[in-house]
Amino acid sequence: MAVHPLRIGVLASHGGSNMQAIIDRIAAGKLDARIVLVISNNSQSGAFEKAKRAGLPTVHISDVTHPDEASRDKAIRDQLVAVGAELIVLAGYMKKIGPLTLERYANRILNIHPALLPKHGGRGLYGIKPHESVLAAGDTESGATVHLVDPQYDHGPIVRQRRVRVMKDDTPETLQQRVLKVEHGIYSEVIADIANGKIPLPIKVA
Ligand code: GRF
Repeated sequence: MAVHPLRIGVLASHGGSNMQAIIDRIAAGKLDARIVLVISNNSQSGAFEKAKRAGLPTVHISDVTHPDEASRDKAIRDQLVAVGAELIVLAGYMKKIGPLTLERYANRILNIHPALLPKHGGRGLYGIKPHESVLAAGDTESGATVHLVDPQYDHGPIVRQRRVRVMKDDTPETLQQRVLKVEHGIYSEVIADIANGKIPLPIKVA
């Protein structure tokens, strides 16, 4: 067991349902962690609203607040360091993580993707797109992938995957709903394994 609750920094851009699942798991006493900061590039996002409702500290960092990419990267890193974040969780965060943040948090930044990477990932494959791609390919299964973040979209080493069967009558939307439920479970489970020491931090890659 960790000697103190694992300090998590969350970055999110949209609805924030993955972040909410983590908040709920902490509240239920099943995850020995604390979300110490929520950063969003979108101050109108559902994620920001959910964070505020949960009483979590929020910071808006975007190309409006920081037009220059390098200063945005530095601001994100400095905010996370200032609150003592140990693990960074991307929960529907639509921007690339810059080199300063990647270096400071090497093998400590997780992302979740709603497909079985390396398939159906990469630039432009966000939102409903990965599910459209799975159906267009005629795949019989999809799933959720938790992976470490590197400089490329949806690319770093895979930490855990969970499969979801594709049904004959699935639309991209029905598949998205089923995969999202699985995401909520698998993401919290991986984070719980980090919090209880089963997965060491920084995460070792093969
Ligand atoms: C999820 O499907 C996640 O895999 C992807 O973006 C979506 C975010 O959903 N990266 P939410 O904001 O957590 O509800």
